[in-house]
Amino acid sequence: MLFNKDFMLGAATAAHQVEGNNVGSDYWIMENLEHSVFVEKSGSAVDHYNRYEEDIDLLKKAGLNAYRFSIEWARIEPVEGQWNEKEMEHYIKVIDYCLANGIEPVVTYHHFSSPAWLITKGGWESPDVVRYFERYAKYVTEHVAGKVKYVCTINEANMRLQMAFLIKDITERMSKQSEIQNQEGSVQVGVNLSQNQSQMMMSMMETAKAFNIDDPRKVANFVSQASEEGDLLVMKAHNAARNAIKAVDSSIQVGLTLSLHDIQCVDGGEENAKKAWDDEFTHYLPYIEKDDFLGVQCYTRKIFDANGANSTLETGPKTQMGYEDYPMGIVNVVRRCAEEFKGAIIVTENGIATSDDERRCEFIKEALTGLNDCITEGIKLKGYFAWSLLDNFEWQKGFSMTFGLISVDRNTMERTPKNSLKVLGSFIEA
Ligand code: BGC
Repeated sequence: MLFNKDFMLGAATAAHQVEGNNVGSDYWIMENLEHSVFVEKSGSAVDHYNRYEEDIDLLKKAGLNAYRFSIEWARIEPVEGQWNEKEMEHYIKVIDYCLANGIEPVVTYHHFSSPAWLITKGGWESPDVVRYFERYAKYVTEHVAGKVKYVCTINEANMRLQMAFLIKDITERMSKQSEIQNQEGSVQVGVNLSQNQSQMMMSMMETAKAFNIDDPRKVANFVSQASEEGDLLVMKAHNAARNAIKAVDSSIQVGLTLSLHDIQCVDGGEENAKKAWDDEFTHYLPYIEKDDFLGVQCYTRKIFDANGANSTLETGPKTQMGYEDYPMGIVNVVRRCAEEFKGAIIVTENGIATSDDERRCEFIKEALTGLNDCITEGIKLKGYFAWSLLDNFEWQKGFSMTFGLISVDRNTMERTPKNSLKVLGSFIEA
């Protein structure tokens, strides 16, 4: 069972997670706060900024034919309206290096981190974000047109809404915990909870101050919780960027990516499951139906019963991230998306955080076998990108989550390909 040569088989990274020294970004500021909620700082990350040639060489050597990476807005426009040509040239070099090596570059224009100045201006809750993003997309496209065939405007465009649901859920659970705590007088839980809460409060206050915003609840990073309007602003920014990209070069294939769960239910959970899928996916359809492709990203499943998502119904082992190791998730989600989205589908991310690389190999085999069946069934699946090419900076959780096909010694920055890199590469016709 092999994918043919036209299929894009590759691995993905995101600028902030691998490049290092993303000093103009909102993340850099948040990581460096006194009471930061990040377990560690990104620092020089895995120095991909300087070592991209070596990393692309390793990807190529394993037989992969595509590389998904992101351009960092904070580098290109470090000050509002001022373009950094030198940084643009850097990304052109990365793209040219891919092309010279027969690797298809799939370029993301926004992957979670934003320029710090954008956040001071209201970030992703201000309607201005639409024209700012459109202007940036136009600038970048003018430089990459003729070289890049696939652009993902925004990574996990539904992440802001997912954060809103997550925070609501945590708040509800915390209030229940404090009820329990008050009833039972559990010091242990109380200390942990109050420490976390006060750390979070301090961090929120410091974040607001750093971005010159009076009310901490109004800080709108890409991964802070969205209001309903904020959720739709992301779609408007995507639509404006898509039009700007197409106006420069109509041949570029444009899409966004979504973070999706394989939503399942037991008896009684049907309505909750339907609502969850609608929140994650269906309500975005009117904004993406003109897109050339949809980037699908799935890491696990969620099982709903009559009370909501119920993780006790999951049967598989957990990954380092704490959610279920469930390789068929991506396969089920691709089938489901294909029923409702009529363009092409690209799996822009899928993978597992584990220190057991043999398990990663099995995960890849299971997922790719299922995805190959999808193609046989007639689904327009154009590519698969494993997350991630390199072990990297997993946002708040730091460097301890190992999703990579290549490990990196951060003292020497030495790269060591894992067996899973070879296994992934073995799935494409030579
Ligand atoms: C994000 C990546 C992240 C990965 C693993 C995706 O949600 O796009 O930036 O590292 O999941 O958690």
